[in-house]
Amino acid sequence: MSSSTIQPFPVAGTPVDEVVRDLDARRSGDVRWAEGRTFGLVFDGGPEVRQVAEEAARLFLHENALNTSAFPSLGEIQTELCAWTADLLHGPPEAAGFLTSGGTESILCAVEAARERAAVERGVVDPEIVLARSAHAAFHKAAHLFGLRTRVVPVTDDWTADVDAVADAVGPSTALVVASAPQYPQGVVDPVAEMAGLADSVGANCHVDACMGGFVLPFATDEDPDAWGSPPWDLGVNGVTSISADVHKLGYAPKGVSILLHRSRELRRYQTFVFDDWLGGRYATPNLQGTRSGLPMAAAWAVVRHLGRDGYRRLVRATLEAADRIRAGVRAIDGLSVPGDPRHHLLSITADPAADVPVSIPALGEALAARHWHLDRQGPPDGLHLTVSAGNVPTVNEWLADLSDAVVEARERGNIDPADDGSYATLE
Ligand SMILES: Cc1ncc(COP(=O)(O)O)c(C=O)c1O
Repeated sequence: MSSSTIQPFPVAGTPVDEVVRDLDARRSGDVRWAEGRTFGLVFDGGPEVRQVAEEAARLFLHENALNTSAFPSLGEIQTELCAWTADLLHGPPEAAGFLTSGGTESILCAVEAARERAAVERGVVDPEIVLARSAHAAFHKAAHLFGLRTRVVPVTDDWTADVDAVADAVGPSTALVVASAPQYPQGVVDPVAEMAGLADSVGANCHVDACMGGFVLPFATDEDPDAWGSPPWDLGVNGVTSISADVHKLGYAPKGVSILLHRSRELRRYQTFVFDDWLGGRYATPNLQGTRSGLPMAAAWAVVRHLGRDGYRRLVRATLEAADRIRAGVRAIDGLSVPGDPRHHLLSITADPAADVPVSIPALGEALAARHWHLDRQGPPDGLHLTVSAGNVPTVNEWLADLSDAVVEARERGNIDPADDGSYATLE
């Protein structure tokens, strides 16, 4: 058998209905997000939210936001989404932002902007990012791509960034301090005010990664400040210079859109790239893309407009009630634990080392996968990750029942070799 990865390029065309049938058939092995069986990856706001997104997507499928003079509609969409989000996240009147293609791109742009500011305003030639071990891997990607050094600090027993260690790490070379609201692995919110103060003390940026929390935490506080509130974490905190909030996660928009806000237009300037010394004329881009699809921008605008504060509050309440039930259910099972005290929609499940009969996390993951539940692996510590969203709400009872069965099965199988390397993203 040939080992070539090359296949003949299709010669004859294929009729539309056959192409669509073929594509649809390929989805048969995909995770069943529409049935609420994935905890992460896809965030489903329900049939009306899908409808408004799909109609907006059809209208803007071919539009290109590379040039918002040619498509002023997309310029307005970007401006309004940023302005609405700045209001939600307590931005000052001068706050300004751009849309990006997702959390990673927002983070890359925030890091690049921090590096530029440190170089221009403070002459920093060897810039550093101070970040906790819990901060998203995209910050390491940014450091790698843009030539910054990382100063990684530990987390404390509650899994939040260790402020004393941040204080020790911050210095003249600091370009950026990263705080998360919440961080992905355990779902807890970092001490943002303290971290932002430390960044400010050396004139560095402080970016709050609210990719997961930006469209949850504000509504959670409105709904039940005692149960679901958090200490101040957004642009209302002095020293926070930028923040990322992903509309394509808990904003319930389809994939391809995040919002990166800066405290002021001056700070936002460090994010943009302008060049006119080639033969093609002036070239200016606000993020890493050139050609930029209008589809996710318009779909995100439509979803936010459709839901409004009231719609988000409704979805957040249902989601956080479900997450609370899930946490209680997991903690009630001998052998499992939920690290830290996450109050919102993210949590992880780890094995309780003190249990009489330990539960193997890879075996548990496989037993749940056999029941058609998708949870990403994470670690250390070895665990299963849940980002709970509105689509999971109707399935909580079934999931908890399957979890109990899966634990029994995992105990019977004992420790197994993981079927994969525990990563939650792959290259194929
Ligand atoms: C806290 C946090 N930040 C950033 C990201 C990266 O976002 P994206 O996958 O949209 O690039 C994620 C993804 O899960 C995340 O959880």
